[in-house]
Parts: sequence; structure tokens; C-alpha cells
Amino acid sequence: MIRVPGDKSISHRYALLAALASGRTTIRNFAPGGDCASTLACLAALGVSIERGPAGVDETPMVVIEGRGLRGLTAPAEVLDCGNSGSTMRMLAGVVAAHAFASTLAGDRSLSGRPMRRIMVPLAQMGARFEAADGDRPPLTVIGADLEAIAYVPDVPSAQVKSAVLLAGLQARGTTRVTEQTPTRDHTERALGAFGATVERAGRTVSLAGRQPLFGLEARVPGDLSSAAFPLAAAAALPGSDVTIEDVGLNETRAGFLDVLHRFGISVETERTGQWQGEPMGRVRVRTETTTAGARPFLELGRDIVPAIIDELPVLAALATAHGELRVTGAAELRVKESDRITALVEGLRVLGADAEELPDGFHIRGGRPLTGGVVHARDDHRLAMAFAIAALTARAPVTIDGAEAAAVSYPAFFSDLERLRA
Ligand code: S3P
Repeated sequence: MIRVPGDKSISHRYALLAALASGRTTIRNFAPGGDCASTLACLAALGVSIERGPAGVDETPMVVIEGRGLRGLTAPAEVLDCGNSGSTMRMLAGVVAAHAFASTLAGDRSLSGRPMRRIMVPLAQMGARFEAADGDRPPLTVIGADLEAIAYVPDVPSAQVKSAVLLAGLQARGTTRVTEQTPTRDHTERALGAFGATVERAGRTVSLAGRQPLFGLEARVPGDLSSAAFPLAAAAALPGSDVTIEDVGLNETRAGFLDVLHRFGISVETERTGQWQGEPMGRVRVRTETTTAGARPFLELGRDIVPAIIDELPVLAALATAHGELRVTGAAELRVKESDRITALVEGLRVLGADAEELPDGFHIRGGRPLTGGVVHARDDHRLAMAFAIAALTARAPVTIDGAEAAAVSYPAFFSDLERLRA
């Protein structure tokens, strides 16, 4: 049995909303990785008082944030360093867009290559102005304004875009509406409700009246299912495994990975044990037979399910090398993640001897060919570092992952947890 770190997506949102609330927010089991540390550092530079509390009785990281109220942040004296975190840059842009000062958001090598037009377009419609390198690449300067609400239909399925618009809309005049063509994770909507805002949902449209006050709260973050996916995939790949993860988030907009494991012929038991601030959570167990004999299932995944498993696609590809055949299409978004996750993943798995093919908007893995080992590169991408480690579990020779420390962005204890599970 293990616990995984607090959910990264939820931790970012609680930190941002806590900064805009009145009063104090305590967040337990706050995501320990570098990405959420970037969000906290940016908020501190915007005048928010943040304390990293004692671990507390349950020994999970705790953060205490003193809210400054809507549009209550102060002009930063320095560039806001978002590190490796696209979520920080895109969602924070929605927050600072409503403040009457200029802020510059910068990131590491990986983040500096990622597209920002997707948030610049709606936030500019609301009244903010931008300056960016190469049209839309970071560093990104946001010149905030007194915003007006908009109705917006994002042209990419992205929870970060939806959230940036909602965070700006919360501080704008009028009611902001976002209509998604394909649903994405709804943590922002749930978090807004937990902080006291009224959020209306009708079909694929979320509506939020601007200038509603938020109130600080005592929150606890469920474990991150996107981190849990790695030990669960390890269990699925190795015969005779039995791994249980406790207190992990089971939000339906994030749990696609569990359905996919099931469709891939893997025994997954899920038990919902409660909810924290409107986020369902519980226990997940994966068990495998002691023999590897049996059919190699073929699974095809397309654009409808992709947003619900976007962060789990690298580990599913790694699992497929051992387990079956997997064809993914409709996932061109993978090319603009922390790395080009299609090219980098396929290249890495091929170095290890896998039968892996790159598609314009996905990949095709024909599993069952034993992996040979070799040297692969994480390319500043935490999920690639961890996915290669899962592939390595079934390789016949040692695998070296260059840049494996990238895992610390979301799951600092990943390699020690994996060691412990194998023991
Ligand atoms: C996230 C949304 C997804 C995901 C990222 C976290 C979020 O990105 O890949 O790791 O917390 O909203 P997109 O919204 O760009 O798809």
C-alpha cells in the first residue's frame, strides 16, 4: 500500500484561489513537487504571505496562505519564474490579467517553447494586453486591466485555458461563460465552489458571475491520480503484482486512466471512500496473475477520451510495450507538453527495442517484443522520465534515464516509491 503526493492540478488551484480569497487558507497534502512550488513563489512575489507549515500529524506537506481578496495582489518587483510549469503560467496569467499592473512570466527551457496564444486570445478579449517573444512564446508580459466578462469557446481542449478564463472572469465585470467542445478536468469549477463562489454548469458550458467574494478554508488535497498511474502501471506490467493506492483523487474527469486499464484487460478495483472539498477520493488496487500467458489485448484510443488521459498517455505507452498493442490518435496536444511527447516517447521506447511508431497525432505501440535496455533522455519532462522507468521494469538489460531528476516536478519520491514496491 502506498500514498502518492497531493494532486498537482488541485494544489495549483487552491493556492491561486486562496490568494484571491479573504482570510486564511490551510492546504494539507499540498503537492510537494517543483511545479506547485513555482506557483507559490510567484504568488509570494505578488505580495501574498505564504508559510510552509509543519508537516502536521499526518506528515503531509502543509501550506498556509493569507488571502488578499479579489484584485488585491501587488505589482511584482521581479520576473515571475514559473519554472517548468505550464499550469502556473497559464492560470496565473488569468489571475494577473485583472490587476492594474504589468507582470512578466518566464519559465525554463521547456516552458519557453510552449504556446501561450491559447490564453492570450481570450484574456485580450476581456481587456488585458500582452507582449511575448516570437508572438506567443514566454517570457510573457501581461498588462492587466479592469476586465469585462466574455463568452468563450476554446479551440483546444485544455483545462488550463478554461481555468485562465474563469480566474479572470471571477475578477471581471459581468458573467463569464466557457463552452468546451470536449470536456476537460473540472477542478477549477469545484474549487471555486469550495471557496464560496456560485458556479453554474449546463451541458458543456460553465458560467461564473464576476466579483463574487471567496473565503479562506481548511482544505486537504487528494493524492494525484496522474502520479498514481506510474505505480499502478508498474503493477500492471509485472506478473504477480498487488498494489493499492490510498486517498487518491477519483474525479471522473481525471479517472479515464482507470477505465483504460480495465479495457486493456487489467484487474482494477476502485473504492470511493469520501470527498474532500467536492473532490471524490478513495482507494485503487491493481492485481495481476503470476503468469504472463494470455492474449495481448489491442486497444485503440481517440480524441473523445484523450483529454481525460492526456497526462497518462506516456505511461500507457510504456505499459503497452510489455502488455499488448495500443494505438492512440487525436492526441496532437502531446506535442506541446513539457516536451514533444510523441516524438520523444517513441524515440525513447525504440532505443529500448520497442516496436513503436510515431503518428501525426499519436502513436502506435506493438507490445510483446522484449525490451533490451539502453540510454534514453527525459527531455526536461517529468512524465517521460517516469514512463521510461516503467518501461525499464520489463527490460532485459539496464536502462539509463538521462535527466531522470525531472520526476521531481510532480513526484519527488517516485524512484524510492518504485524501489519500495519492487522489494
Ligand atoms: C492541467 C491540464 C492539462 C494537463 C496538465 C495539467 C491542469 O493541460 O496536461 O498537466 O491542471 O489544468 P492542458 O489544459 O493544456 O491540456
